Amino acid sequence: MSDINTERSGGVLQVELNRPAKKNALTAAMYTRLADIFNEATKDEGTRVVLWHGAGDAFSSGNDAGDFLKNPPGPGDSPQARLMDAFVRFEKPIVVAVHGAAVGAGTTMLTHCDIVYADESAKFQLPFINLALVPEFGSSYSLPARIGYLRAAELFLLGEPFGAATAAELGLVTRVVPNEHLLPTAMETANKLAAKPGGALRASKRLLKQGFIDEVKEAIKLEMREFSERVRSDDAKEAFTAFLEKRPPRFAA
Ligand code: COA
Repeated sequence: MSDINTERSGGVLQVELNRPAKKNALTAAMYTRLADIFNEATKDEGTRVVLWHGAGDAFSSGNDAGDFLKNPPGPGDSPQARLMDAFVRFEKPIVVAVHGAAVGAGTTMLTHCDIVYADESAKFQLPFINLALVPEFGSSYSLPARIGYLRAAELFLLGEPFGAATAAELGLVTRVVPNEHLLPTAMETANKLAAKPGGALRASKRLLKQGFIDEVKEAIKLEMREFSERVRSDDAKEAFTAFLEKRPPRFAA
């Protein structure tokens, strides 16, 4: 059993986060593996589209809190940085099917995907502020770019959860579909994309992204600097410990 499963059928590479007992929280090893998967998929001519989803009842609860305590990412090379780099440069379309919790990186990663389907169970949250952290994964740029500054500011500065209908209204997801149609819809779209002329498809994605790719990369650098300091702060350590101990955090005055 692996924390990430992959399976290719036709031109579609399915990538499944598979740590359902922890709501698919992402460990350092999972970030590294995901980076490898995207880098290999770039080179693999048989892969034309990636279809991404989570096993169990959640998409992803974001970074593993215990991992952040034991092994916080630094400002330089890190498993998180490797995935961001692979992901941001990835030229093939990414279709994502979101159900259940999509928290932290589980939401910010979506801002780099091309087609985002959610079912009615999907629940999003950017809880960084509540954890004494700052936005990551280039989302300080990519989220306002996708949904507008005021909407992004509300989500980042209040850190409250929101449902699929709000996510669709905001423009964070392409469409909300009934639960039983989620994966079939995503698969149908992925197969349609896989049948398109690959060169033109990749060039189209490149053109769609060229207006902000440099800004996203710059945002990642700035975020990593700020994030790596804050993730080591007493307040952040208290927030992760409190989560793992299932109690409210007690922040310093
Ligand atoms: N890191 C580590 N463990 C996590 C986790 C995370 N990000 N998210 C969930 N888990 C674990 C829980 O500790 C629990 O483990 P246990 O069964 O050993 O006690 C298990 O996954 C199930 O989570 P639980 O909180 O009981 O499920 P829920 O359905 O009540 O809530 C979430 C699901 C995702 C809303 C909630 O777990 C949550 O808010 N997680 C934290 C998300 C977060 O802050 N991520 C950002 C980190 S930067």
